[in-house]
Amino acid sequence: MITRPKGTNDFLPPTTAGWQYVENILREMAAVYGYREIRTPIFEATELFQRGVGETTDIVTKEMYTFSDKGGRSITLRPEGTASTARAFIEHKLHGGTLPLKLFYMGPMFRYERPQKGRFRQFHQFGIEVFGSKEASVDGEIIAFAMDFYRRLGLTDLKVRLNSVGCPVCRAEHKRRLQEFLRPHLEEMCGDCRERFEKNPLRIFDCKQEKCQSLLVGAPTVADCLCEDCRDHFERVKAYLDEADIPYDLDPFLVRGLDYYTKTAFEIILNEIGAQSAICGGGRYDGLIADIGGSDMPGVGFALGMERIFAALETAGVTLPVEDSLDVFFVALGESAKTHCFAWLEALRKEGLRAEMDHMGKSFKAQMKTADREKAAFVVICGDNELENNEIIIKNMADHAQETVSAASVTETIVRRIKS
Ligand code: HAM
Repeated sequence: MITRPKGTNDFLPPTTAGWQYVENILREMAAVYGYREIRTPIFEATELFQRGVGETTDIVTKEMYTFSDKGGRSITLRPEGTASTARAFIEHKLHGGTLPLKLFYMGPMFRYERPQKGRFRQFHQFGIEVFGSKEASVDGEIIAFAMDFYRRLGLTDLKVRLNSVGCPVCRAEHKRRLQEFLRPHLEEMCGDCRERFEKNPLRIFDCKQEKCQSLLVGAPTVADCLCEDCRDHFERVKAYLDEADIPYDLDPFLVRGLDYYTKTAFEIILNEIGAQSAICGGGRYDGLIADIGGSDMPGVGFALGMERIFAALETAGVTLPVEDSLDVFFVALGESAKTHCFAWLEALRKEGLRAEMDHMGKSFKAQMKTADREKAAFVVICGDNELENNEIIIKNMADHAQETVSAASVTETIVRRIKS
């Protein structure tokens, strides 16, 4: 038997109805907050992520699905959406339009990670990106958007972890101080971290080895090295969050797994879901557009994990009000009755009602069972005999009341009953 690749999921009904429900909320919220949709390819030139996400990140060094296509180009399945969105922004010269430009996307991302609860190799993100504004109000807005979304779903036990990772000026200073702090312990580090030490010592914070983590105790944080501009920006972000009553915890060790961040970096954590508790992550990336060949153009955004929403809903015991019941089920007995039911079914569907009939040649009893299982509000019972006597039965499944109507008034009666 051929099974799905490790770390991927098949989403079956009724799970998919839950996904659609959440996706609809996200689309509605995007409209309310003024974000318009962008759709970019699932695969991109590998170089985009090398330059965008960063050569020393785990994503680029270990987790990318990279292959050569038949033309010999190095192609990578997108591990995230920010680099692609930034690439499209440059390619379509969107800096020429009204700024800030506010975009959203939704779709699958691919990372070759060790699969576990809440961590997959194909997973789905909803993300927003804002291009063109340096203002801290945008940083505030995107965090407010994410928190508003989770609140609408009924997820409230959340925390924003907030940090500023500074600009290249603060980072150079931090790199210097961090190297100074760690240099005496260079020999004790794992091979990966010794390499990180030279290229990008900040990445040592990502190391999973206990030994390396223990060496970081008391290490200087970027927050200790912020320049005046970055410190000021950070204060403004906090002021906006305070003003909007969005609680946050400052976390000077939050560095995020992607290199493009400048100034604001944040994650939203669900208190209960354990190891994979980050349900959303984002921040500002004022250098990304220039790094991948565009002009000097600030940006800020976030992405939230769709799978982790559903894990969070389950943990929090929240059930979504997903509508999957039928308005009417036609129980037909005999060929002539079936033909009539087929016509009524079509007429009701044109009215927008959720209508269904039996397509399996089932007995009367089995059809009634199906109607029950599909949670039909009404059942129309029609046999060849009833049809001859012009007596079609409509049964209200909620109170089991039955009424007999003429064949000519079946659809009209059903529409009236449903609408009332
Ligand atoms: P990220 O933190 O790598 O950021 O991913 C964002 C969210 O995607 C995570 O908080 C998590 O919910 C979900 N996620 C990540 N990896 C997996 C996985 N393997 N399985 C399931 N869910 C996962 C980014 O991707 C940035 N592009 C976010 C961003 C947008 N920053 C600025 N703009």
